Amino acid sequence: MEKLVSLAKRRGFVFQSSEIYGGLGSVWDYGPLGVELKKNIKERWWRSMVHEREDIEGLDAAILMHPKVWEASGHVAGFTDPLVDCKHCKNRFRADDPKIKGTPGQPDGQCPACGTKGTLTAPRQFNLMFKTFMGPVEEDAAVIFMRPETAQGIYVNYLNVLQSSRQKVPFGIAQIGKAFRNEITPGNFIFRTREFEQMEMQYFVKPGSDGEWFEFWRAERMKWIEALGIRKEKLRWHQHGKTELAHYAKDAYDIEYEFPFGWNEFEGIHNRGDFDLSRHQEYSGKKLDYLDTTTNTRFVPNVVETSAGADRTTLVVLCDAYREEAVKNEDGADKEELRVVLKLKPELAPIKAAVFPLVNKDGMPDVGRRVYDDLRKRFNVFYDDGGSIGRRYRRQDEAGTPFGITIDGQTSQDQTVTVRDRDTLKQVRVGSGALVDYLKDHLAG
Ligand code: GAP
Repeated sequence: MEKLVSLAKRRGFVFQSSEIYGGLGSVWDYGPLGVELKKNIKERWWRSMVHEREDIEGLDAAILMHPKVWEASGHVAGFTDPLVDCKHCKNRFRADDPKIKGTPGQPDGQCPACGTKGTLTAPRQFNLMFKTFMGPVEEDAAVIFMRPETAQGIYVNYLNVLQSSRQKVPFGIAQIGKAFRNEITPGNFIFRTREFEQMEMQYFVKPGSDGEWFEFWRAERMKWIEALGIRKEKLRWHQHGKTELAHYAKDAYDIEYEFPFGWNEFEGIHNRGDFDLSRHQEYSGKKLDYLDTTTNTRFVPNVVETSAGADRTTLVVLCDAYREEAVKNEDGADKEELRVVLKLKPELAPIKAAVFPLVNKDGMPDVGRRVYDDLRKRFNVFYDDGGSIGRRYRRQDEAGTPFGITIDGQTSQDQTVTVRDRDTLKQVRVGSGALVDYLKDHLAG
């Protein structure tokens, strides 16, 4: 994992938030390459959910919501972790932290930080929602929360979307947006953070058909993830047992990936029954039932949810793409060397092609600039004339750039350039006028 974190920083994928001030715990910023990679993943998700389906509508609800939303959703009462404090060193831990020896609250309970016995408090529930105040007065009545999931923005807009889009059940609402959780044991880079993005879709169905739709969405989501190019053997399902199920869930499956720190969830598919709409109906006093005009019956729709983390999916894509390989030196020396390469699916790669003049003379930089200017109208491309060609290839391998375009001595004679494939290292000659079509053909999918 350290190697990936260091590559992410070196190449401009992910930086620690407020690093010059010593960093802010478990909050991360996306650099020039990271923002492109995450955007490409989100765009692919949006396209598959909203553009390619006529039964799903998009939404962008605000982060701040009426505080009653979080009472109705169960988050005020139940979105908690049990915590213990050390009265001696003032550190705070999750009560189930495996490093704690003995029983917290008892004389044998030992603080994992300072080692003192008997100073740990008995577990207390700690709510994970960030609180803030709305308006100028910091009083209890003005408390609002930073949303801990995007789903609630969808439920409270269910009627608005239904009526304005003239959809009929079954139909879905999809949203991508920020969520915040005051996690107690965050960590593992961008795996568990306090500010993150979710890509959530809530599918509203007739009660009784929820089981079938649950299976449908499980299959769809796995297909989508595999199509990101993730190795199948690194993916598995985990069904929640009775004690793991969230307060709203009738049934739930996680999609797990084998990260360098072990198997962990990065997406959940949940059968939420009618919990959410019934609760919002009860707390708001607004009718949220649906009139089925074919049978003239009314019901509160059940919800099947697909809930993915944009950051965790980005981490899965990065971990899965990271390879170290022994390859032939590409500056012509007769030796092998180790290269680090991100074998990203071309459609996800932040930079699609890099343009290199082989040497900075004989008109090559001028041609290179012309090729670059032409391509950048269509693709995110990069121009690099610094260092040996082998070094320039290596830098782009680490960025996951699928194609390297080199202007060489032959270019002035026949207007062809070489195109190097990141994965096979093979080079082909392509007419400089045909590069746009070449890239279009090879980047799709
Ligand atoms: N609406 C249901 C829901 O929020 P969840 O399992 O708590 O379910 C769904 O979260 C997804 O959101 C997770 O699979 C993960 O990808 C992402 N996620 C949750 N907490 C996160 C955190 N602290 N940091 C990064 N991603 C997180």
